[in-house]
Amino acid sequence: MARLAVVTGGAGFIGSHLVDRLIQEDWSVVVIDNLSTGSKKNVNPAAKFLKIDIRKPAAAKLIRKLKPQAVFHLAAQASVPVSVKDPIGDAETNLHATLHLLDAAADAKVKRFIFAGTGGALSSEKTRLPTDEEHASEPTSPYAIAKVASERYGAFYRLSRGLPFVSLRFANVYGPRQNPHGEAGVVAIFSKRMLKGESVKVNGTGKQTRDYIYVGDVVDAMMAAQEVQKAEGPYHVGNGVEVSVNDLFKRIAKLTGYKKKPLKGPADIGAPFRSSLDSSKIRKELDWAATTTLEEGLWLTVDWFRRGGNPTR
Ligand SMILES: NC(=O)c1ccc[n+]([C@@H]2O[C@H](COP(=O)([O-])OP(=O)(O)OC[C@H]3O[C@@H](n4cnc5c(N)ncnc54)[C@H](O)[C@@H]3O)[C@@H](O)[C@H]2O)c1
Repeated sequence: MARLAVVTGGAGFIGSHLVDRLIQEDWSVVVIDNLSTGSKKNVNPAAKFLKIDIRKPAAAKLIRKLKPQAVFHLAAQASVPVSVKDPIGDAETNLHATLHLLDAAADAKVKRFIFAGTGGALSSEKTRLPTDEEHASEPTSPYAIAKVASERYGAFYRLSRGLPFVSLRFANVYGPRQNPHGEAGVVAIFSKRMLKGESVKVNGTGKQTRDYIYVGDVVDAMMAAQEVQKAEGPYHVGNGVEVSVNDLFKRIAKLTGYKKKPLKGPADIGAPFRSSLDSSKIRKELDWAATTTLEEGLWLTVDWFRRGGNPTR
């Protein structure tokens, strides 16, 4: 009998790629998503889609009823600026609802609870670059605070209720179906605007850096976390390479044939200037490694936008 996975946020950018992989590997998949930023067209037709808000009791109820082998929890309010404007709304989705799902998963005795945490929002030049799990900075945005608190609740459920909880902390994820509002939104924004020949803004000096990881590599990490029994985490999932906004601009301009100069935008306030993740721990413990180069990943992303942004499967 096929194994059953519940994927929250399975209509979103990363979640929909994970669903495709699970289906490819013969899992039965139930997607829970309220479509606030996700889209039904992202959802693999072989998965069962349920429009449920994780803040409502129906989500936890479903997990208690289905007793899936695995829960992949990706549904989130995924924007740092939105969390700064509305910390309470952010915590309702990113912390409170997560806690309900953890409690339900413990009751249902799920074999794996994989959590999508953030590494990008916990890495900065103020600690150490690339940042390993030991040197992650204190969370400062409501978004990162809720992600770290959720991880700690997950560890609590592992200890107190035996829930096999694994936290993965992603760097800046990019790829087809990417949402411009997420942590690596700049790749989507540049690709879309350059393909249309529109003006493109580079904020500040453009020398600020991030660690960009291709979505397929992130899916590999989630699958490894599912498979390896001893996995606990938290695990940083990134390339460990800093890429500046100016470098991204040049690379995407080349792929799209864009000839205009960038416009200057205001510097981002509050965000770390440099960031990248050391993923030695997940490489060692789960035998994971990123296999997509930035060149390949950007090509795949631009190609997807060029073809009108339709599902790729
Ligand atoms: N994209 C990145 O660079 C990145 C980096 C680190 C962590 N993450 C985390 O990975 C996960 C997926 O992010 P993404 O980039 O795919 O974002 P996304 O916005 O594309 O996906 C989130 C999904 O969750 C759904 N959702 C939001 N609130 C919900 C609610 N209350 N009930 C049910 N569904 C709800 C949305 O409709 C969407 O489909 C998130 O948890 C995010 O915080 C993303």
